[in-house]
Formats: sequence, C-alpha cells, structure tokens
Amino acid sequence: MSGKFSVKVLHVSPECAPLAKKGGLGDVVGALPRALRDCGIDARVLMPAWPGVLDTAREKFYLSVRPVAKVHVSLNWRVLSANVWRASVNKLPIYILENDELFSDAGIYPEDQNAESAESMIFLSYAAFELSHAINWKPVIIHAHDWPSAVIPSALRWHRHYKSMAHDFDTVFTIHNMAHQGLFKPEDLNGWGIMPEAFKAMAPGSLEFYGLVNLLKGAIDNSEAFTTVSPRYADDIQTRDGGKGLEGVVSSNAHKLHGILNGIDCTVWNPRIDKLIPVNYSSDDLSGKKKCREQIMREFGWEDDGRPILTFVGRLTEQKGVDIMLPALADFVPNFARTIIVGSGSEYFNRALSEFQSGREDSVHTVACFSEEDAHRAYAASDILLMPSLFEPCGLSQLIAFAYGTVPTARATGGLADTVKDADADNDGDGFLFYDYSTTGLCDAIERALAAKKDDARWHEIMLRGMKKDLSWRLSAEKYADLYKSIIDS
Ligand code: GLC
Repeated sequence: MSGKFSVKVLHVSPECAPLAKKGGLGDVVGALPRALRDCGIDARVLMPAWPGVLDTAREKFYLSVRPVAKVHVSLNWRVLSANVWRASVNKLPIYILENDELFSDAGIYPEDQNAESAESMIFLSYAAFELSHAINWKPVIIHAHDWPSAVIPSALRWHRHYKSMAHDFDTVFTIHNMAHQGLFKPEDLNGWGIMPEAFKAMAPGSLEFYGLVNLLKGAIDNSEAFTTVSPRYADDIQTRDGGKGLEGVVSSNAHKLHGILNGIDCTVWNPRIDKLIPVNYSSDDLSGKKKCREQIMREFGWEDDGRPILTFVGRLTEQKGVDIMLPALADFVPNFARTIIVGSGSEYFNRALSEFQSGREDSVHTVACFSEEDAHRAYAASDILLMPSLFEPCGLSQLIAFAYGTVPTARATGGLADTVKDADADNDGDGFLFYDYSTTGLCDAIERALAAKKDDARWHEIMLRGMKKDLSWRLSAEKYADLYKSIIDS
C-alpha cells in the first residue's frame, strides 16, 4: 500500500472472537479489523449481544458504562430497537447491539432457517445503516461477511428506505463459505422492506434464484467488490463443484472478485507465549513441545511408546472430510499412530466418532465439544494435523498447526492448496497433500507423512519450515486496504 490513508470501515458479523465465536468467521472478524487498524484504517465491528457477550465485554474488554446510543429498525411490520454498547478489544472498537428478544440464541445460527429465525441477522444488517446517525461515526465502506449480513449490498439497491443511502456507503462482501447461501421465500422480502422488483429474474442485481431469494447471489451482484478467503477458493467457486449453483453468477462478476488469504492472530496462536499450553516453545527450542506431549499423554493415561499423534480440530461435518477420515484412521490407529479429535458436529458424525473410539480408548481421545483450551493443547502436543476437507475456503487449522510445529496432511483444495506444500514433491515442502477425495487418497498421504516422520532430521526441517512462515494478518490486511482504496478512488 502506498502511504497510510484513513478510511472508515464497518465490519458487520454475527461472530467476533473473543466475544462470540462459532467457527473461522469469528476468528477472522476478531483479527482482520485489528490488523487493518495497523494499516491506518479506522476499522470497527458491529455485532449482536448474544447471551453472555455483554458480560464478557464488561469483565475484560472495557465495555461502556451505559449504552452509547439506541438504534431503531423497521422489520416485519414492527419497529425493533436495540441499545448500542461499545467495547474495545485490543483497541478495536466493537459496537454491540442489545435486544434480548432478537439475540437470545447462544448458538448464534438458527437450526431452521426461515424469515422468523433470520430476523436477528436482518436486524443486524440494517442496524449498520442506522448506526452512523446514532454514534456520529460514519463508515464509507460497510464490509459484510457470509449470508447473515449479505442483505446489506442488496438493501442499498432494493430497500424502500435504505436505497436512498446508496451513495453514502460502498460495500465489500466476503464469502467464507459458499455452502450457506441464505435462501428464503420470495414473500419474506416484503417484511424486510425490499421492493418486489428485487425478485424479477431478469433484473440486474436480482435476488431471485430458482424461485427462491438467495442473499449470497444478491451480495455478489450488488457489492462494489467481493472476496473469498483464499485465491484458490476464488477459482473453485467458479466451477460446478465449488460454486454450489452460483458459479455462473460468480464468473460474471469475476472482474470484482479478489481472493485474499486469511492470517491467524499471532497474539493468540503462538506457542512462544500461549498461556493455554503447559510449556511454551519456539522454533529455536522445541523441548517444550515434547513436554506438551508428555503432559497430555499423562492426562489421557497413555504410556508413550513413540507412536505419532494425528490430530483433527474442527467441526465434524461433511465439508471437513470426516466421512473419509474415520475409515482412514482405522488403518493406522492403534497399530501405527494415536489420534486426538477436538470438535463436534451432527448426530451422525458424533455417533460415528464414538463408534470409532470404542475399543481403541488407549489410542483415541475425543473432545466432543469445541474447547479453545483443548484445541491449543492438542495442536501443541501433536505431530500431524489432518485436514481432509471436501472443500475449504481457507482453513485456519493448518495455519495454526504450522505455528505449533504440527505438520498438516491435507487435501489440496481451496486455501489448503494455497498454503500447504507437499514435502515429497518439493524440497521446501511443509506438509503432505492428496488430491482425490477418497479414503485411499488420505491413507496414502498419511502413510507418506508417517514415513517422513521416521527420519528425524528431515521431519525437523519440515516442521521448522512451517513454524517460520509469516502467518500473521499483516500481508492480507494490506491487500484489503488496497482494495478499499481502489473502491474509493473509483
Ligand atoms: C469458514 C471456512 C473456512 C475459513 C473460515 C474463515 O469457516 O469454512 O475455510 O477459514 O470460514 O474465513
């Protein structure tokens, strides 16, 4: 970026770590705006006060003593209001919307998606337009993320009232996952204040998609620019497999599509200073990693016989490749390796996991619900991270694994293909990759990783290459800053 310039950008998201987090989106929205501030951008966040959020903010993140404003939004024939609180997480200003009725679901995302259950997300989105009047700080760019705030770019075109603000705001939209598109019935638009013209199939910027409203489609068409969280995923979503039906819409908007890789928050994911792991370590001295392993083994009641630990951290979903991973693991565990699995998912996968564990208790440890602390300790204690994703917009686990000297074994898709280099194919490789989405594909990669592990010197080099990568948000934030600047300049 040439010189520093200060532009006001509001990120709108239902999750923002450490206040509320369900997955990678929360990590990104907690970290990217802060990195943008280091580039001289006045980035701030707007999020809901899900249960517990205000308490955490009050305890640790300088919550204002009273609400700093109140916003009102007309939605579904009512006027809904929320108090706006202000918190500060490492100097990042976060505006938090308090309305106990709307934001009562600690799970954040509704199980059944319909107009009623999505009211919280539409409110959040429209509150972004109202905020600037209420607090005397006006963003020039509103940066929306995924389906929950995807209505924002479309509302500036099609909302009865907000279309009058089209010249006030530019919009950037980031796709973290193409699998959730925000599908609703056409009649839902009315209660949201969106004009019926928005549903005419041939209208430019229409929300219509095979007879349904598709919020992602609207955001792609109506934003000034849209981004994916890795360059490879920007290509993937232009194909039939990756586009999930929207490949045509994406391709015809490819001129304003940017793939920008996520980083990780190196103040949180850093074995040198991590307070959640038993012993700190770094690439200069790996003895702490060994101690992290010993400690976890003691806790699990495992005797260390040198078998490598293969770890998985993430949601147990189809996207993450759990269906090919469990049969692949069965080939190696318990005879050649042990495994730690941190994460939960659908009932189907939860059951499959406990069936896999039964009879292998001496070699399989599962943490059935996502726990930040267990995740940190698992990364630190493990040798190999498994990421056999069916698709992966970016993936944060492989980046974290690099930082902790845990070697990723991953499927070459999306952000995994952008960040992991196969150590058998390249002299400067830092992981192991497979291409074919199958149990045999994964088994082959695990086998190669385990073979490499037997050669101490080689393994050490592979680990160090990962640990020495610059995984911070700095480079990515500069790219977003350039993007904002190009939007404003045009
Ligand atoms: C979603 C994607 C993941 C990405 C994260 C943050 O969770 O599935 O690949 O890393 O968002 O952008």
